[in-house]
Amino acid sequence: MAKGREWRAEVVEAIVVLLALALAVGAGVGGFFLGRDTKHTGSAAPTASTAQAAPSVDPHVAAGAHAFVQFACAECHGEQGRGGVSPDVPALNRVGKTLTVVELTRIIDHGLGESANPSKPYMPVWGAVISKQQVSDLVTYVRAGLPAVPDASAPAVPRNQGLAVAGSVLYVRDGCINCHGPNGLGGVPNPLSEDKTIPSLSGGDFRKEFNTDAKIIDVIRSGSVIGRAPIVSMPHWGGILSDAELRALVAYLKTLK
Ligand code: HEC
Ligand code: HEC
Repeated sequence: MAKGREWRAEVVEAIVVLLALALAVGAGVGGFFLGRDTKHTGSAAPTASTAQAAPSVDPHVAAGAHAFVQFACAECHGEQGRGGVSPDVPALNRVGKTLTVVELTRIIDHGLGESANPSKPYMPVWGAVISKQQVSDLVTYVRAGLPAVPDASAPAVPRNQGLAVAGSVLYVRDGCINCHGPNGLGGVPNPLSEDKTIPSLSGGDFRKEFNTDAKIIDVIRSGSVIGRAPIVSMPHWGGILSDAELRALVAYLKTLK
């Protein structure tokens, strides 16, 4: 009898050990996947709360800083949103504290202050142009206080290479390329607008309608609001871009075939 009981005790012990092993392995694997999923938030949290001199930036903050340059937010709101470009464009270094994620997302998607006949810069409608992930990264960046991020800076405009060369860089730097496409080829979706896309700046139609420098400069300066958000309109660049920059942009646009 005693022997039988011992034997059973050994089996139970073995099962318990096996179960414990299985649990440990399971937890390890689960922990591994969880770790992968939450790695960025996990590593960013201590940086933000303890303000240690950490060399790494949260990847979403970094992505937001790059989007801030790519979509020319910096051209209107200043580098790192510090303002100082135009009295009509606010700095952004406070809104990260005063506006919620939902409010910031809505402003970027739907714009702010546009009117049918804009006489000053307004916040463009970006919902159809900027991906949801990039809008979310922009919001993260603004809420993080728009820190400096390595390599998140606008391309330098070459001097002494002629107006059209300067214009071709301004076309990227000022974010025209995001809405009008590389080389002004157009095709960027604007689903609720009449044409369903943002117009090209290179075809025969464009050159026929905008057949003088003055007409092209005029529409870039004034912008053109073609509907309410979520329809994307042409931003108002008067007071943002200098006359020299406008002339360079026109010289570049005239090289497009
Ligand atoms: C063509 C110039 C222009 C560009 C480009 C631009 N903005 Fe704006 N933005 C404005 C103006 C003007 C306002 C103020 C609108 C108003 O209050 O009527 C504004 C307002 C805002 C606000 C609200 C600020 C506040 O104090 O309430 C946020 C946030 C913002 N912009 C973020 C961005 C981001 C992010 C980008 C890039 C994706 C961007 N803006 C690009 C002109 C611009
Ligand atoms: C947020 C998107 C957006 C950005 C950024 C933008 N545009 Fe536009 N642009 C438009 C839309 C939409 C129209 C069409 C307006 C209309 O039909 O009246 C337009 C129209 C134009 C036109 C007149 C062409 C036409 O067929 O109506 C010119 C020229 C132009 N943009 C140049 C520029 C330049 C140069 C830049 C950069 C400094 C720029 N745009 C930045 C959206 C944008």
